[in-house]
Amino acid sequence: MQVAIDGPASAGKSTVAKIIAKRLSYIYIDTGAMYRACTVIAKNHNLDYGDEKGILEAVASDGIEFKTEGGEQLVYSAGKDISLEIRTPEISANVSQVSALPGVREEMVSLQRKMAGSTNVVMDGRDIGTTVLPNAEVKIFLVASARSRAERRLLDLKQRGIKSDQTVEEIEADIAARDYKDSHRAVSPLKKADDAVEIDTTNMTIEEVVQSILEQIQKKL
Ligand code: DC
Repeated sequence: MQVAIDGPASAGKSTVAKIIAKRLSYIYIDTGAMYRACTVIAKNHNLDYGDEKGILEAVASDGIEFKTEGGEQLVYSAGKDISLEIRTPEISANVSQVSALPGVREEMVSLQRKMAGSTNVVMDGRDIGTTVLPNAEVKIFLVASARSRAERRLLDLKQRGIKSDQTVEEIEADIAARDYKDSHRAVSPLKKADDAVEIDTTNMTIEEVVQSILEQIQKKL
């Protein structure tokens, strides 16, 4: 069973995807974390965020790896835990540019398909239902108002212990800018797959969203 969960930034994708994967004992793959890791690698190598060739070489040499420790999924690169670094405002502000590079996408999509293999998987991102796993049995497209997504992002940063001087209005503006870039890039832009089920999570609790997706999965089992 392949479950694809797509949608704009902070719509709740990773939160619900993690819960669903845990309840069903499926593998969870956070593809956004992979593009964020590419951005961290670019930064650590002092590369321009548009330097596709340089970034691809640096990613090939440092590698991107997921490890589960204490029930938590961590991201490693070049032997270092970069799980916190990938969520910093600088990385959030530049990840759209890196993830728009066609060569970077090609590399990540190929890695994502390899990771999914033929096992039960819940994968979240922007192009999972349209490009990475076009044959996924369940495709979900999560949306929510920009304000409620900004409030969630702020809470998420606080809970992760990441300091942010940004107001909710500034975060909302950043999210809107990222949505625009993600939806208008040339290669596999953020787009609802024709056969995806759209869920607006603005006024839903996490458990309600989880239940609604579990129902879709049940129908296909
Ligand atoms: O889900 P996230 O906010 O961690 O994703 C970070 C960025 O990565 C997002 O701005 C767009 C990009 N992304 C993408 O282009 N394709 C994916 N499958 C996942 C994320």
